[in-house]
Amino acid sequence: MGCKRQLKLGFMLHGVGMGWGDWRHLDADPTASTSFEYYKRQAQLAEQAKFDFLFVADSVFITEKSSPHYLNRFEPLTILSALAGATSNIGLVATLTVSYSEPYNVARQFASLDHISGGRAGWNVVTSWLEGSASNFSKAAHYAHDTRYRLAAEYLDVVQGLWDSWEDDALVHDKASGKFFEPSKLHRLDHKGEFFQVRGPLNIARSPQGQPAIFQAGASEDGRNFAASRADAIFVGHETFDEATAYYHDIKRRAAGFGRDPDQLFVLPGIRPVIGSTEEEAERKYQDFANLTSIENALSMLGRPFNDYDFLQHDLDAPFPDVAAHGANSNRSHSDRVIEAARKDNLTLRQVALRFATPRTDFVGTPERVADALERWLENRAADGFVYNVSLPKELEVFIEEVVPILQKRGIHRSEYEASTFRGNLGIPVPENRYARRDLTIAAE
Ligand SMILES: Cc1cc2nc3c(=O)[nH]c(=O)nc-3n(C[C@H](O)[C@H](O)[C@H](O)COP(=O)(O)O)c2cc1C
Repeated sequence: MGCKRQLKLGFMLHGVGMGWGDWRHLDADPTASTSFEYYKRQAQLAEQAKFDFLFVADSVFITEKSSPHYLNRFEPLTILSALAGATSNIGLVATLTVSYSEPYNVARQFASLDHISGGRAGWNVVTSWLEGSASNFSKAAHYAHDTRYRLAAEYLDVVQGLWDSWEDDALVHDKASGKFFEPSKLHRLDHKGEFFQVRGPLNIARSPQGQPAIFQAGASEDGRNFAASRADAIFVGHETFDEATAYYHDIKRRAAGFGRDPDQLFVLPGIRPVIGSTEEEAERKYQDFANLTSIENALSMLGRPFNDYDFLQHDLDAPFPDVAAHGANSNRSHSDRVIEAARKDNLTLRQVALRFATPRTDFVGTPERVADALERWLENRAADGFVYNVSLPKELEVFIEEVVPILQKRGIHRSEYEASTFRGNLGIPVPENRYARRDLTIAAE
């Protein structure tokens, strides 16, 4: 019997929760989004359960209508740097936007996190989809969708180029001769492109992973190509098995088209499990959770991928309004999915809002049933793993106690970490330094 394919499991640290109403649950801590103790406890729990990584999402624009977690939360690299000291094996994936940052700073920040954590850093490369973000960064307008992905590709070239500034053995530290580093092993980038001009080198040595792992969540045509050509893992928002399977095969086909090994690129849907000791209990818990979201909250959530569009101005029981223009330069793929669902099933605005606010997925049920669903998605190639998004308070504990042992028994989740680095645990290699590689080629000639 061969070794079974293993789930890649991430845990999304998300303070008071995804929705507008989650913080109101009796057991919820309304201060969670800025509580280091809360984050530390969740991180340590996920590490005990041998999750591959922690993930911190981010954005850089709020209004008084934003959700509670968005209104008041930690900056990802800061909280993950602190958590690096409170954990030892779990990967640390931070979101950082290319539209409102500079590649030199970002290369330093992720290289620093990789050094601090002993090789556990990952970067979720996002382009941002809230137009208002521009107003916080002295910019007249938000980049157009296609420009954002062109910019992202060049940005990543620069960051990855800077990460190779120092060859692995460049810092010789020879006290006797006084030689601190070997000058032939330090390289300038001299990048001149459409968006960036960066000389280099970077002022920090190559980090334990060489290059921190790259995460992405592209779903549009440009986004999928970017992810398929450049990412080590891809986050997905799909709720149904069929949608996820179609996306999975599309991404793997694109990756192969870019000359990559499709098995070295992991497709990871986000899930929000709700677990009960019986099916009835799970259903009740799910309904309690869904009831935390009022129709006003559901409308606010629905507005997000439409650039925070105010749906309250429409009749709730009339057909879904024509708002495509508001989604086009925002989170386009998600807004397209909403429009398509409304059209296909002829739904009213109220029906659409409720369907998308707390979707009823395959991951509600007894521990066995949730484990079955995870295994089915893995075995049938709808997913290579999952990102666990928080639902009810204490649900992570239930998942760890009740579901993780089943996954371990079935041989699809580890009982011990294989390595101390994130790449090691994901089973992907440390990329060779591009300059060292060139030296080897010359030597072989
Ligand atoms: C699970 C998941 C997590 C995401 N996290 C973030 C995030 O933290 N910040 C962000 O700006 N976008 C985030 N996104 C949105 C994506 O970056 C992207 O904008 C979206 O999937 C639309 O894809 P497109 O740009 O190809 O249209 C996330 C998407 C998914 C599915």
